[in-house]
Amino acid sequence: MKHLIDPMDLSVQEIDHLLTVADDIILNKEKYQEVCRHKKLATLFFEPSTRTRLSFEAAMLELGGSILGFSSADSSSATKGESVSDTVRVVSGYADIIAMRHPKEGAPFAASRKLDVPLINAGDGGHNHPTQTLTDLMTIHQEKGRLNGFTIGMCGDLKFGRTVHSLIKALSRYEDIHFIMISPEELRLPEYIIKDVFEKKNISYREVKTMEEVMPELDILYMTRVQKERFFNEADYIRLKDSFILDERKLASAKKDLCIMHPLPRVNEISIKVDDDPRACYFKQALYGKYIRMALIMYLLGVSADEN
Ligand code: NCD
Repeated sequence: MKHLIDPMDLSVQEIDHLLTVADDIILNKEKYQEVCRHKKLATLFFEPSTRTRLSFEAAMLELGGSILGFSSADSSSATKGESVSDTVRVVSGYADIIAMRHPKEGAPFAASRKLDVPLINAGDGGHNHPTQTLTDLMTIHQEKGRLNGFTIGMCGDLKFGRTVHSLIKALSRYEDIHFIMISPEELRLPEYIIKDVFEKKNISYREVKTMEEVMPELDILYMTRVQKERFFNEADYIRLKDSFILDERKLASAKKDLCIMHPLPRVNEISIKVDDDPRACYFKQALYGKYIRMALIMYLLGVSADEN
């Protein structure tokens, strides 16, 4: 049984396959509209979400399948004290595939053991978010036409931002990528990622404190929200929340073909004036998330449009 818990669960070849299918879905939507007929996706969200859950649900509906699930722990038996593993095991009898988000790191992995339907990690605490990573890879591939040979600046909450952690791991397998990590001291990338990914694989990286000093070098700027829900105290959050705000003035020195990404939701970190800049890719990015999740659901269920 194939699950997707960590971005490294997929090989580079599998990612290439998903990107190819997602591109084809955009061009030939009608070819895919029945491929998951009679299949059900359960979305079990123990933590809030808009894009991830709704794009999973839209993806399954556009494949002709059905959806069921819950969107907060309060409306599940978690409030009665049921373990995540028990909930997931029971739901595996009601659905063919499960997407699950949980505030605890490792919860989807624990729940996937002994499970006989595919389980997708839709975000576990500050740890991983592999389907956002697929979304990000698709965005880079669509916008830049390649997944190697660029300088990417990642800015904001690099400590708690799971999308950053997962994307770094995934990109570490491509050639000639230079990482520039932009954050205040308190929100630096965790040491384990620096050691296990950058240093172990001899990958070029730098840590800086302002985006202005590196802006002209960047091909991609990946902005992130300060992850309020993972802070231990409100005062620290308030002090750090507006550390970085991207605006038109800061973009003046950027490349003409910079690709500005953000997994969303945005709070304050990108001025809304930037939305009209042709370099802003974040709303397109959210849309790509639906297509790549369609490709992923098909892959994990072992269905393809060619069999129909
Ligand atoms: C991200 C997440 O949940 O980690 N959102 C998303 O899935 N698009 C980013 C965030 O919440 O800041």
